Amino acid sequence: MQLKKTMVWDLPTRLFHWVLVLAFALAWATYKDSRHLGLHTIAGYTFFGLLMFRLVWGVVGSHYARFREFSYAPKEVLAYLRSLLGSGIKHYIGHNPAGAWAIFVLITFGLLLSVSGVIVLGGEEQQGLLAGKISFDQSALFRTLHELIAWTMVGLVAVHVTGIIVESLLHRENLIGSMFRGTKWVSGESANVTSHRLVASVLTVSFLTWSAVSLNGYISATEAQPYQPFKGPVLAMNELWNEECGACHLAFHPNLLPARSWQRLFEQQADHFQEDLMLDEATFNELTNYALMNSAEEKKTEAAWKIDRTVKKSETPLQITALVYWKDKHSDIADETWQREKIQSKTNCGACHYDAELSTFQDSAMRIPK
Ligand code: HEC
Ligand code: HEC
Repeated sequence: MQLKKTMVWDLPTRLFHWVLVLAFALAWATYKDSRHLGLHTIAGYTFFGLLMFRLVWGVVGSHYARFREFSYAPKEVLAYLRSLLGSGIKHYIGHNPAGAWAIFVLITFGLLLSVSGVIVLGGEEQQGLLAGKISFDQSALFRTLHELIAWTMVGLVAVHVTGIIVESLLHRENLIGSMFRGTKWVSGESANVTSHRLVASVLTVSFLTWSAVSLNGYISATEAQPYQPFKGPVLAMNELWNEECGACHLAFHPNLLPARSWQRLFEQQADHFQEDLMLDEATFNELTNYALMNSAEEKKTEAAWKIDRTVKKSETPLQITALVYWKDKHSDIADETWQREKIQSKTNCGACHYDAELSTFQDSAMRIPK
């Protein structure tokens, strides 16, 4: 039988595929350390953008890239899988029925992954499209969902890759190579596919521009001006508080302790860690009021939300640094580090957190001084 070298996968489809792989890998590599959250979200948005492109390309793209060219009924998938065990394996130029299903499932899960990611980003970090529009409680469920979908996708990718290796061996053709070159050796009739270089160029230029713009915040960040994507509700500030409470240490924002803790701290103002705060009545009332209105229970930041959830209702902690949440977040820091000249005390939050005064405590604004 005469074999002809034939273009099957146009350039935009191949670009979509490999950049999607890279974006997924980058998102995977950056999910654990929350300091890399910025890169994680950039990878996520890229992933989402590519999927949106693929949805359009599945309708207007070249022959084998179109969804209707590889929409097979479940029974065709079963027939195909059964044929793998026998001898009469049917050869498909584009996607085979099993591969086609893998792709539809991957795209669906990819979209769910992106959407749940935007919800978690908005709720938990108060960043992105939903910043300020969704609470921590509301996004908590989506976090679990986001993780579950991600793990499911890793499983699906494994199935997809296994399928490709099996098919490559059975048909003695290099399918992975085809996904790079775009061509396959085909016998008989095949549809006419062109490279679509113009669409591919537009895709490449948009991708490069978007990467440059989104990475800019990262690359140009300095100590004085850290990368700060926080866009959530600005925390209520009080000048009198900042003045009175910022005299000896950072004016810890009220969202870092429960209301009952502030109540107790103010009751004991004459014996405040061996200091007498000597607040007059008017000041006392204004500050207490502000503290109670903006305590951890208001859940305005990720820290407040987690503090509210982790402090036992029977306890009234008087120190932020004594909170289980705080201790847990700082457990990796060695004793020697706390004694460094630029730090000296655990309550010197601003030494490591550039946004300590704003009390947003973004991971990206955190550096441990040498
Ligand atoms: C005269 C100095 C002084 C002033 C003014 C002052 N504090 Fe303090 N505060 C201290 C000292 C000393 C500590 C002990 C911890 C430390 O080493 O910073 C402390 C600790 C704290 C802590 C516990 C920190 C932790 O997690 O370990 C909180 C909360 C606190 N202060 C709140 C306030 C508030 C609210 C005000 C304003 C009403 C205020 N402080 C004003 C001296 C002061
Ligand atoms: C020696 C440097 C250092 C000091 C001082 C310090 N922190 Fe941290 N903080 C860290 C590190 C490191 C992390 C962990 C970041 C991570 O998990 O990615 C962290 C995490 C946090 C987080 C969690 C941020 C998040 O989104 O996960 C909060 C909130 C926080 N610190 C508050 C404080 C407060 C309040 C103080 C002062 C009472 C303080 N920190 C003092 C280094 C410091």
